[in-house]
Amino acid sequence: MYVCLCHGISDKKIKKLVIEEGISDIRGIKKCTALGSQCGKCVRPAKEIIDETLSTQFRQAS
Ligand code: FES
Repeated sequence: MYVCLCHGISDKKIKKLVIEEGISDIRGIKKCTALGSQCGKCVRPAKEIIDETLSTQFRQAS
């Protein structure tokens, strides 16, 4: 599923960055991708995906 339609960034790509690059906030994602740099509609859903991925990782680790 595409989160950022303006730049074609998928939820998978965001999850991968969180898991593999250790990114934990929207600022980190913005540094690696163009997410949010056009209309900005994707910022909120992207943040939810980051939080969801982090809490899943936390649950798996504990
Ligand atoms: S949907 Fe991401 S900047 Fe427009």
